[in-house]
Parts: sequence; structure tokens; C-alpha cells
Amino acid sequence: MNWTDLKKRADARANLSELFDQNADRAREFSLRYGDMLFDYSKTHISEDDRALLLAMAADAGVEARRDAMFAGEKINETEDRAVLHTALREMGERSVLVAGEDVIPGVRATRARMAEFADGVRNGSIKGQGGAITDVVNIGIGGSDLGPAMAVLALAPYHNGPRLHFVANVDGADIADTLRGLDPATTLVIVASKTFTTIETMTNARTAQAWMAKAVKDTGAQFAALSTADEKTAEFGIAPDRVFGFEDWVGGRYSMWGPIGLSLMIAIGADNFNAFLSGGYDMDCHFREAPLNENLPVMLALVGVWNNQGCGHATRAVLPYDQRLTRLPAYFQQLEMESNGKSVAMDGSALEVNSGPVVWGEPGTNGQHAFYQLIHQGTRVVPCEFMVARSGHEPELAHQHELLVANCLAQSEALMVGRSLEEATAIMARRGLTGDELDRQARHRVFPGNRPSTTLVYPKLTPFVLGQIIALYEHRVFVEGVMLGINSYDQWGVELGKELANALTPVLRGEASDEGKDSSTRLLLDYLRG
Ligand code: F6P
Repeated sequence: MNWTDLKKRADARANLSELFDQNADRAREFSLRYGDMLFDYSKTHISEDDRALLLAMAADAGVEARRDAMFAGEKINETEDRAVLHTALREMGERSVLVAGEDVIPGVRATRARMAEFADGVRNGSIKGQGGAITDVVNIGIGGSDLGPAMAVLALAPYHNGPRLHFVANVDGADIADTLRGLDPATTLVIVASKTFTTIETMTNARTAQAWMAKAVKDTGAQFAALSTADEKTAEFGIAPDRVFGFEDWVGGRYSMWGPIGLSLMIAIGADNFNAFLSGGYDMDCHFREAPLNENLPVMLALVGVWNNQGCGHATRAVLPYDQRLTRLPAYFQQLEMESNGKSVAMDGSALEVNSGPVVWGEPGTNGQHAFYQLIHQGTRVVPCEFMVARSGHEPELAHQHELLVANCLAQSEALMVGRSLEEATAIMARRGLTGDELDRQARHRVFPGNRPSTTLVYPKLTPFVLGQIIALYEHRVFVEGVMLGINSYDQWGVELGKELANALTPVLRGEASDEGKDSSTRLLLDYLRG
């Protein structure tokens, strides 16, 4: 890979204002339209030549061949010897997808039909609790078995017409205690969502929920369901097979909300809306597979990421949806991107030549503006920002508030780019009557360096279809960045060591094992915590 050339080009980048001065058509030439979406990356430092280099690097890395291999069911997750086929969960066309010579699509559709039947039953009251129709559904899961459905249930609130949804993830008993308090066990359905059905947080919370329910309900099994790849373990837990919605190991946890892990979402919005969500994902898949690299939304989003991170050296990326219902989207992208591309070793075991994926973080606008944007505008580090906003909201009667939201979103990317010079700040403060040293001092605090990069993704409205498009867009972006880095985006060995050590420390905390061999800092903390 041509990382040296990329860094050289990035080091020699022109100012954003120069790029716009040099090319009156920059906004049009450095933006992409796909369907009703608009992706504007003109406020990044990428020039025409930089873009050509980035596209050549993507081609050299074999993005297209790797993409085709993924869709074809080849075992591209080489460190776990697995195919990567979350796209099969949303395949809405006629294509077959073969794994070990067998078409997996009929199985995917059969499971989805069972999910729809179950979700309909819960929604229309034919599947009941001991106390009557289900009023509350608690999804117990963590990471990919929580963040996707939790994010989407919030995002699609205008489409809810089912029971109330709750999500419990943390092993901290506070999470489940606060969630169950106030719920009626006789009208609550508990969904245990865990690909492996071994995750300690989920299994512990599931047993807590079972004990809570057993105090009031005779047949708790009738009010439990499981979403998992581990049939034997769900049976051991006591969940009947007709309450288990299975999937295969070729669906990664953080890519799993399109299948059974999405059951809570389906219960919230109904099977038709869930299918619309899948269709949005499928639509983005088709675009990703068919569009040439330079017109390909996920590819261009990835190239902006590579430019900012591996090129310019910006270590973080802020995701800033101007959409209150996307409150959990930054957390969702955090797992998607950081668990996928936060690695130091390439597929062949060699050390990465460049930095791995960025730190992803964010909050919805406008809230963030009154919290951390200070640093984004005037801090010493540059934070590339990814703004997102809908053309319209779901509240026509509050259209004036949506206008304010949009104005704020656009104002931020404009302010980041144009900034405010010392001369401008001085003129403003002079008009307020300041003079001499005080004028100079005060003006300096009001300078905005500008020249700070951002992108803006505009979509028509946050419908299930559009949400599906956005999530698939980011999944493929992560894939492209991973291919360019030469890493495996589909394993997560980095989470294992902490799990192992926690398992070893639990008996020490209980006084059932000694802390011998532990470092002195850990021993000090243990001493304090054991009281
Ligand atoms: O520990 C990380 C992880 O394995 C994630 O990759 C996954 O999404 C999460 O834990 C939950 O795993 P499971 O669905 O198997 O409970």
C-alpha cells in the first residue's frame, strides 16, 4: 500500500478555503448522491489528486474482490475460519448464498417468518403472559446483542405500536434492578439475546430475571425467548425450541441486528417495518456491489476515513447526528468500528504499517454544541466530524424546530471550515469598545482557527428503510477501511484477556482464592474493595 505517498500528500494539504477558491464546483464534485441521500465530503482536505490516490489504493488493496468474496460466502474471517454473511440476513432478491455448498437463504427466511409470527403474536395479544397481553419486553444482551436493537428501537420511535421495550446489558445489578422495578412479571416477556449464550453479563442478568419472574409466574418458560447460535445452551437454560430463534456463526455479533437479534425491534415496529429496514440495508448492499468505486457511497466514506486518520493523523472521529432519535448511534458505531478495526496486526500476522481505525465517539446535535464542541472548534487537536441530518422530521407541527436543527447542523460545519481570524475577532471586540492590550487579549480568545474537516450526510427522513441504508453504509465503510488496512474486521480477540482476568478475579473478591501473583496495584485495589 502506498501509505508513504498518502502521508506526503496529507502533509502538503491545502487549506479548505483554498480548495474552495480553486474550484467553484468543489461542492458538487466532492459530494455524492445516492437515491435520496446526499453525502458531502467537500469540507475535507481531499483534492482531486488525493482522491485519485485513495481510489487507486482501494483498488490495489483488492476492495472489489474482497467485497465479492464476502457476498459469495467465502471464509474471509480467516482467524475464526468463518464466512461473513450478515448481508444474507437482508438479501431481498433472488440470489442464492452458498455456505459449504448449501443455500442459506431459505433458512434465513424461515427463521424470519417464525420471528414475524412470534412478534405478531406478542403485539396482538395471542402470545400472552400469565397476567394477560404482554405489556413490556426486556431484551437482555450486551455489545452486538444490545446496541443494534437498542439504537434502532429509539431511532424508529414514531413507528412503535407494540408493547414497551427495555434493554438490559450491564452486569451491574443496577441495570436490571432499575429496569425490572415497576414492571409486572405476569405481563413481561424476557428475550435473552446472546450469540454464544455464554456471555457472563447476559447469563447473569437472564438468571436474575428468571428468579424475579418465578416469584410471580408459574411457567416462566412461556415468557422467555432466546436469540442465539447455541441451541444446546438455550435448551440447558430451559427455553423451549419454539421460543429459540437461531442464527449461524457467519453472523458477527456487531453485525447481527438484521436477524434474530432484531426480534425486539420487530416486536416494537412490526414485521412490515422491520422488512422495510432490511430492504434499506439490501438497497445499500446492491449499491455497494454495483457502483464504481468513485461513485460508491461506502467506499467514499471509507476513503475520507482513511485520509483523515492514516493520512492526516487525526486519531478520533466524531459522529454527530442532528437527530435526537439517533442518540445511541454513536455508541453503536463505536462498537461497529472500534471492535472491527481496532487491531495492530494484519491478516498475515505482521504488524500494521499505519495506525488502526480511529476512536469513534459522539452525541446528537444540538446537545453536543453546548458541551464538547468548544474543543472541536478551538482545541489544539483536530477532530474530523461526521454530521448527519434529515431533510424533514416526523413532527410536521414542529417544522420550525426542525429548521433550527438543520440550521445548527449546517452552521457547525461552516464554522469549522471558515473559522474566525484575529482581524475579524479584533474588529468585533473593537466595536464593543475595547482598546489596546485588552482588545488584543480578548480578541485572541475569540479566534476560531477554522480549516477543520467535516462531512455531512443528508437523508430524507429517518424511516425504517433509511435507517437500514445508513447502518449498511457504515458496515461497508468499516469493511473497506479494514481491507485497506489489511486486517480482519470480523474477529475481536482484543476483548478476551479482560474477560479471562475478570473470571480469575471473581473468586479472589469473594475470598475463595488468593491474590498471590497479582501486581501490587491490583492487590491494593482488591484490599480496599474487600473492605
Ligand atoms: O465480548 C465481545 C463480544 O463478543 C461482542 O463481540 C459481542 O457483540 C458481545 O460480546 C456479546 O456476545 P454474545 O452475543 O455472544 O453474548
